[in-house]
Amino acid sequence: MAPSLRSIGITAFLAVEQTLATSSCTSSKFTWESTSNQLTPSSLSEITTADTSFLNFDSETPSQPSSRFLPLPKCKLLPGDPLWPSSTIWSLFNLTLSGALIKTIPLAAPCYNNTGLYSSSACQQIRERWSDPHLHVDDPSSTMWPLYQGRTCLPTEDPTSSNCTLGGYASYSVAVTKVKQIQLAINFARNLNLRLVVKNTGHDFADKSIGAGALSIWTHKLKDIRFIPNYNCGSRYSGPAFRLGAGIETEEVYQAAEANNVTVVGGECRTVGMAGGYIAGGGHSPVSALAGMGADQVLEMEVVLPSGKFVTVNEGSYPDLFWALRGGGGSTYGVVTSVVVRAYPQIPITTLSFVFATGPNVTVDTFFAGVKAYMSYFDTITSAGAYGYFLVVSFAPGEYFFSMMPLWGNNMTQPQFETLLNPFLTDLTNLGIPFEPVWKEYDSFYKTFTGTWGPEVVGAHDSHAASRLFPKENFEPAKINQTLAAVRHAIEGGAILIGHNIRAAPNPTVNQDNAVHPAWRKTTGFFILAASWPATASDSVIQERSETLTNDWMAQWRAISPSAGSYLSEGDINEPNMQDAFYGIHYPRLLALKKKYDPTGLFYAPTAVGSEDWYITGQVPWIPTQNGRLCRRT
Ligand SMILES: Cc1cc2nc3c(=O)[nH]c(=O)nc-3n(C[C@H](O)[C@H](O)[C@H](O)COP(=O)(O)OP(=O)(O)OC[C@H]3O[C@@H](n4cnc5c(N)ncnc54)[C@H](O)[C@@H]3O)c2cc1C
Ligand SMILES: *[C@@H]1O[C@H](CO)[C@@H](O)[C@H](O)[C@H]1NC(C)=O
Ligand SMILES: *[C@@H]1O[C@H](CO)[C@@H](O)[C@H](O)[C@H]1NC(C)=O
Ligand SMILES: *[C@@H]1O[C@H](CO)[C@@H](O)[C@H](O)[C@H]1NC(C)=O
Ligand SMILES: *[C@@H]1O[C@H](CO)[C@@H](O)[C@H](O)[C@H]1NC(C)=O
Ligand SMILES: *[C@@H]1O[C@H](CO)[C@@H](O)[C@H](O)[C@H]1NC(C)=O
Ligand SMILES: *[C@@H]1O[C@H](CO)[C@@H](O)[C@H](O)[C@H]1NC(C)=O
Ligand SMILES: *[C@@H]1O[C@H](CO)[C@@H](O)[C@H](O)[C@H]1NC(C)=O
Repeated sequence: MAPSLRSIGITAFLAVEQTLATSSCTSSKFTWESTSNQLTPSSLSEITTADTSFLNFDSETPSQPSSRFLPLPKCKLLPGDPLWPSSTIWSLFNLTLSGALIKTIPLAAPCYNNTGLYSSSACQQIRERWSDPHLHVDDPSSTMWPLYQGRTCLPTEDPTSSNCTLGGYASYSVAVTKVKQIQLAINFARNLNLRLVVKNTGHDFADKSIGAGALSIWTHKLKDIRFIPNYNCGSRYSGPAFRLGAGIETEEVYQAAEANNVTVVGGECRTVGMAGGYIAGGGHSPVSALAGMGADQVLEMEVVLPSGKFVTVNEGSYPDLFWALRGGGGSTYGVVTSVVVRAYPQIPITTLSFVFATGPNVTVDTFFAGVKAYMSYFDTITSAGAYGYFLVVSFAPGEYFFSMMPLWGNNMTQPQFETLLNPFLTDLTNLGIPFEPVWKEYDSFYKTFTGTWGPEVVGAHDSHAASRLFPKENFEPAKINQTLAAVRHAIEGGAILIGHNIRAAPNPTVNQDNAVHPAWRKTTGFFILAASWPATASDSVIQERSETLTNDWMAQWRAISPSAGSYLSEGDINEPNMQDAFYGIHYPRLLALKKKYDPTGLFYAPTAVGSEDWYITGQVPWIPTQNGRLCRRT
């Protein structure tokens, strides 16, 4: 240490250290986040018009919100209301946005006569591509799971069978390409009492990206991605990292990581928004067993707050939001414009796939003994840094099917992975269960990913899922029989189990003090359970199946894991006691931060923090659609 530094005392020394760290910091914002692309009170005054007060900022964290409406109105506006902005105001707003405002049209509008947009060829294309996630990702208002949209404009072959309406889709969308447009949209919606939603890909199971009468901030076009070979910005981590724009999807990150010989923590699905709902919800990954959760990897975020202010959020700046935005859920504390996440070296990966089923030599009891054999190795497998993704389903009464798709050995060669798995495979063989193992070796994460999973299929409204984060105790001898019985009860009742043998490893090189559900830190079995029904099912059938899922099958799962929780990003919109289930002991702190940063309740999404203060009119039990009016409970 230089003598001059020693002599100026510890406080000054720390200050110098901080300055040094910042000056060598290698992560600047994207161009569209830079000062010239931000809204400031002075740039507002440059907008020459009679009255732009509807674009004003709110004071930051006010004890009393400086809303134009006090007391705060009970309900948000819908089109047709006397206070709904006039077309002149929308046009003026559009001008300030440089023309980025879109009046939304349901994606399947060309399939209907009543829209005036009927086109048999356009409709046919929409019908053919409806299950392709990109169709919905590329649309400003669509969602991949139309059940809670209200199914008011599904693709159809008969253009006069019903009338297509917006339902739960937003009324207007801003196709943002600059921070300034996000700030304007936030100020506009807050000052004019409009419902606000944030739509990235539309992946969310609970349709958290849509809402009737809403102004939607569509982050899809924020596609920048930048590799930072040596991030060094004063946090505990320095080394390779990526800055990801809010619209970046999983596969785009993996491709960039592959090109730079690194690995990034992300999910199994190609089109999920990494910087959007994935990180906001916690984010699980095949490499979590080595690195922890997706949210743990965040080094910095840029965020537009509900006040309209644009801020940098990290360990030193808005540390409370840095905690909340990593696991506390999307669409709650503001709009994230970009995130910096750390990267890891590339690793070799080995996978093992196989299926087994009931059959001539496999009774139902033997089948479930096979499932139990697997579960008894959950802790062994994840402790070694491996991961498993599997399916259990009944195709017909008495016929059961298991698919390992796949077991995934991080940083393992095939001989290493075989050594780990042989006791389990021997158990299956000893049970008399025939199976044909398929081993594959890869030298990088991206190659494993593309070699393992195809593009996902979306767009259905014939199922609904719930989830449970089972701790390792559920798979230990004292409890494994109960766990198996509860799983078997659901599968025998017709449920589909999409299982993850996953552990979010402790990782001292990153900041794991965040809002990720504490149950994730104890999980070795993350199980998604789906109820299904025919696509043509009536509401009463959907209600009956949904109620069975929540109040029978999942009730048993909750009973055998009382201190666990559920994953908010792959959760049940009807989850009872959702605050505890999705957020655990973090809920009171998350709610206090919600009231601090969003005192007018600008951001709302079903099951989000603070959503219990609101209701939506016209909802029927078990099918809580987003196509009614959003109102405060008090
Ligand atoms: C097929 C499939 C596979 C999946 N696989 C995984 C997986 O492997 N691991 C995993 O952890 N999860 C997985 N998920 C769940 C996924 O993480 C969540 O659905 C996630 O919310 C998707 O985020 P999104 O931004 O893509 O979607 P959206 O539906 O557009 O957004 C989700 C929520 O985040 C909010 N939001 C989006 N962007 C922003 C932003 N920039 N600022 C503030 N709020 C924002 C939205 O308003 C909404 O509330 C999967 C989901 C599906 C359907
Ligand atoms: C906004 O302006 C652009 C460009 O002028 C235009 O194409 C678009 O239709 C406008 N949006 C609305 C909702 O009027
Ligand atoms: C279809 O729409 C047109 C107007 O676009 C209308 O004239 C016609 O009657 C409609 N047909 C049916 C069967 O509703
Ligand atoms: C569609 O709306 C029109 C006008 O409101 C109505 O006359 C017609 O019956 C509706 N069609 C269907 C199939 O509901
Ligand atoms: C990645 O590794 C390969 C093989 O070792 C090498 O040829 C390539 O230059 C590396 N690329 C980068 C961006 O480091
Ligand atoms: C069932 O077991 C018998 C005896 O071991 C064997 O011959 C037969 O091939 C098995 N059938 C199947 C479908 O595995
Ligand atoms: C992968 O394994 C090697 C030894 O085989 C070890 O040195 C390295 O740290 C491991 N990497 C990770 C990310 O665990
Ligand atoms: C679990 O079930 C097995 C039979 O499948 C039985 O042998 C064992 O004793 C049971 N364990 C407990 C703790 O009840």
